[in-house]
Amino acid sequence: MQLIVNGTARRIPDAWRDETLLSTLREQLGLVGAKYSCGMNLCGACTVLLDNVPVYSCSVRTADVEGRALLTIEGLARPDGSLHPLQQAWIDERVPQCGYCQTGQIMQAAALLSENPSPSEEEIVAAMAGNLCRCGTYDRIKRAIRRAAERLASTEAAGVQTDG
Ligand code: FES
Ligand code: FES
Repeated sequence: MQLIVNGTARRIPDAWRDETLLSTLREQLGLVGAKYSCGMNLCGACTVLLDNVPVYSCSVRTADVEGRALLTIEGLARPDGSLHPLQQAWIDERVPQCGYCQTGQIMQAAALLSENPSPSEEEIVAAMAGNLCRCGTYDRIKRAIRRAAERLASTEAAGVQTDG
């Protein structure tokens, strides 16, 4: 079977159809940014985007995403290699502590800004509510999202392409 991951068609053995998407990404494709934590649809550490919608990849069957567009943290940077504004904001705000939850947090935030480029505080909190952080980095995550939104707004005002 074939998956479309980060804009590239990737072939995987049919035997992996009934595995979780998270296992397939990590063990078949070597994309280890999405993390296994609860494995029960509860924490968001495994978040990736499916047709631009965040999903918990630990709870998605690989066969169910065949032919659909998957985006993982490995595909979030720009084609020229420059960081996505969220990735830069995460660095600028020194968000991660242990780091384990952070790729899921960034992917969830990417979906939010793609849908709503200028979210309010309440909208950020609501959108990020399903992504848990045992280290308690929530305030820095919110600051980073606001920073990335401001950067996106300023680059768009200057006519620079920033999405995708
Ligand atoms: S590991 Fe998937 S939701 Fe926790
Ligand atoms: S940074 Fe440690 S779990 Fe979030």
